Amino acid sequence: MEKTILSYDTVALDEAGAALVIIDQTKLPNEFAQLRLTEQPEIWDAIYRLKVRGAPAIGVAAAYGAYLAARAIDTDDYETFAGAFKKACDYLNSSRPTAVNLSWALARMMRAAEAEKSHGVAAVKARLLAEARAIQQEDIDTCRKIGEYGLSLLSPGDGLITHCNAGQLATSRYGTATAPMYLGQERGYRFRVFCDETRPLLQGARLTVSELMSAGLDVTLICDGMAASVMRKGWVSAVFTGCDRVAANGDAANKIGTLPLAIAARHFGIPFYICAPTSTIDMATLTGADIEIEERPAEEVTEMWYEKRMAVPDVKVFNPAFDVTDAGLITAIITERGILRPPYTETIATIMGKEQD
Ligand code: MRU
Repeated sequence: MEKTILSYDTVALDEAGAALVIIDQTKLPNEFAQLRLTEQPEIWDAIYRLKVRGAPAIGVAAAYGAYLAARAIDTDDYETFAGAFKKACDYLNSSRPTAVNLSWALARMMRAAEAEKSHGVAAVKARLLAEARAIQQEDIDTCRKIGEYGLSLLSPGDGLITHCNAGQLATSRYGTATAPMYLGQERGYRFRVFCDETRPLLQGARLTVSELMSAGLDVTLICDGMAASVMRKGWVSAVFTGCDRVAANGDAANKIGTLPLAIAARHFGIPFYICAPTSTIDMATLTGADIEIEERPAEEVTEMWYEKRMAVPDVKVFNPAFDVTDAGLITAIITERGILRPPYTETIATIMGKEQD
């Protein structure tokens, strides 16, 4: 079968277990390039520059990055190891602030090290490798379950809108918001998908469109500001997006432009679904107001992708990478443990208290 972008792992450890291998997403769709990263600053930079991006994929990359850091710590003394390992995890954690999967994966790696400490540093390193692999495998299983739950809300022929890229390139496989689309495609649902281009970094136009077209879906690209007009035409049955952090009350941070999509969906009576692995739910963040929103360089708005700068010199630029959609605008949050409905404070607390099946 012909290879497509979906044939490659978004994030992997190389065969020797010595390097993180990622697809350089900043080059897509015009160039397919894989990067082999071994040094911590390279991994930090790859996350910061969105060479690897999307909340679950960042978590998996950080877990492998933490393992590679552990592998390079040369001591048999656990306390010395633990100090250096924490420093490495804190460093990776500083690469991007909004997606909680990053700190979630690193905290999980630190807990795994601690749990194994009585067996010595070599055993801790082996355990960290197993833990990073488990995080990746669980992400695949989780996305598949989100896909099944999401598909249960849809009918053949539905028109869908998605924003940014919550696809395979943002996860280990299937994606979150795209998982119902892939499963539906396999089962003959013939969805029509509208992809927001997603200014300023164009994850929709460059990544989601590539992915979905590779799988044979019917895809139409629109600029972010066109979504309401597409809804008014009656072409949209549901909105599916991913997210970077869900607060305990159901407020959800996702790529900038998600909030206007949710407001437009409410206006037109269209269900607005957030797809979120439970690793994206942060019980320590009480409301959306407590979520740190990443602000990125002005050049992403004024000149990136253009042949020459397309903004008046010296204009002030505000470039937040995410916005927060109020829980009240979200019809349901689709997780691997089930579909959550309002009141989210209760349904989230219940599901987060349950063991994963
Ligand atoms: O800045 P990005 O490209 O990392 O933002 C990604 C998103 O906003 C995704 O929708 C989110 O991480 C969910 S990915 C399954």
